[in-house]
Amino acid sequence: MAERLTVILAAGKGTRMKSKLYKVLHPVCGRAMVDHVLTQVEQTHPSEIVTVVGFGSDQVQKLLHTRTAYALQKEQLGTAHAVLQAESLLADKSGTTLVISGDTPLFTAETLNQLFAYHEQNQAMATVLTAKAPDPFGYGRVIRDENGQVLRIVEQKDATPEEQQIQEINTGVYCFDNQQLFTYLHMVNNDNVQSEYYLPDVIGLMQAQQQKVLAYQMADFTESLGVNDRIALAQANQIMQQRINRRLMAQGVSMLAPEQTAIDIDVQIGVDTVVEGGVTIKGQTQIGADCYITSGSRIVDSTIGDGVTITSSTLEQSVMDNQSNIGPNSHLRPKSHIGVQAHVGNFCEVKNATLGARTKMGHLSYVGDAQIGSDVNIGCGVVLVNYDGVKKWSTTVGDHAFIGSNSNLVAPLTIADHSFVAAGSTITQDVARHDLALGRARQINKADYWDKLPVSDDPNWNK
Ligand code: UD1
Ligand code: CA
Repeated sequence: MAERLTVILAAGKGTRMKSKLYKVLHPVCGRAMVDHVLTQVEQTHPSEIVTVVGFGSDQVQKLLHTRTAYALQKEQLGTAHAVLQAESLLADKSGTTLVISGDTPLFTAETLNQLFAYHEQNQAMATVLTAKAPDPFGYGRVIRDENGQVLRIVEQKDATPEEQQIQEINTGVYCFDNQQLFTYLHMVNNDNVQSEYYLPDVIGLMQAQQQKVLAYQMADFTESLGVNDRIALAQANQIMQQRINRRLMAQGVSMLAPEQTAIDIDVQIGVDTVVEGGVTIKGQTQIGADCYITSGSRIVDSTIGDGVTITSSTLEQSVMDNQSNIGPNSHLRPKSHIGVQAHVGNFCEVKNATLGARTKMGHLSYVGDAQIGSDVNIGCGVVLVNYDGVKKWSTTVGDHAFIGSNSNLVAPLTIADHSFVAAGSTITQDVARHDLALGRARQINKADYWDKLPVSDDPNWNK
């Protein structure tokens, strides 16, 4: 097998996106488009990958690191000019060069491998990957002669009305004989509507020299979608989402409304977990088996054990251990850790805090910057007062402590294990083991207060 080389084109600004973010960095299901392309390319095992960068080159290189070499295209003069920037890195090599755009995130390694194989078996000089597009507007069209031989590719803006009727499009993926590619790239001119050096012109130039130029037409257009604007970006997300959800369902995850469930590509979910519609799961989240996640939940970069129930809650960079539960309408902010069988009920917020096993925090409480032990009861409306306006302070609560409802625990503070805080207390001093802390005004009942009121003889007052 000939050596395989790859060039990824990622230097364009992506004007049609109307975005501050460079086009190839726009995410599709949690991964930048150019990262999707590179990930699939890697699975075809090329000996060399060169990514052509220009706009946003720093950010692209920061994202892709050493997974690829880079060639800088200082001025965006067109796709042929872009490939030429890789010349010094590749020209002395012999083999097959795959060229692909960083804005076609849906191609699979399987398709790329098929293209490589077809090109190599036929010993072509160039093979262009084509597809029949339901709406070919915006793509280069494949012009064939009466025998079906590919003659050239014409861009949308340069196409005659007749050529615009052609449905077969250039997907922007090609295999070339590496040495011939660079020879022919130097022959491309920018004599066209956009005054750009078009890579697809290489196909026409080789054909004119009677070289072997083939087209490999894909059965299904879906993979070929090129993302030039936000509408195509939404379509790419939808298609990728469908793939991800189907893979997860095939692996044993139940989805009640998969078309309304947004799950990023790197998310892992265990068997028999049920995900309702209207759920978003992002980033590097891992979810165990037998969990139940209801609509309105949003889970980002979190690790969830087995048998966990998440009811309409938001979790960020947090951990929930086996059989714990949360919600409805609670929020785990970053660095929260909910222990085994622990319970976080409704309208609670936890931030940078650990709740031990079986600890219960039922309603309307805030726990921030704290280590809470196991089997602790946190009553309704407990607030950990962790901020003095300048600095955050931490609180430690020992195992089996009982924190009565509507208490304020003013940090820094240590509440020992097996101790009690009376309801309605404001606690500013540490509480020792087995002690009961009362931090509230003593109740006074004023006898016969009614009689002192000036209105006490009015039978209709305060009825
Ligand atoms: C290109 C093809 C078109 C094909 C379509 C498939 C050309 C001239 N046209 O059109 O035939 O149907 O892709 O999606 O190639 N880029 C650079 N440097 C440049 C210009 C572009 O690196 O100077 C990069 C872009 O970042 C992008 C890729 O090349 O990733 C394609 O460029 P784009 O402008 O999107 O080309 P299309 O108009 O989509
Ligand atoms: Ca494009």
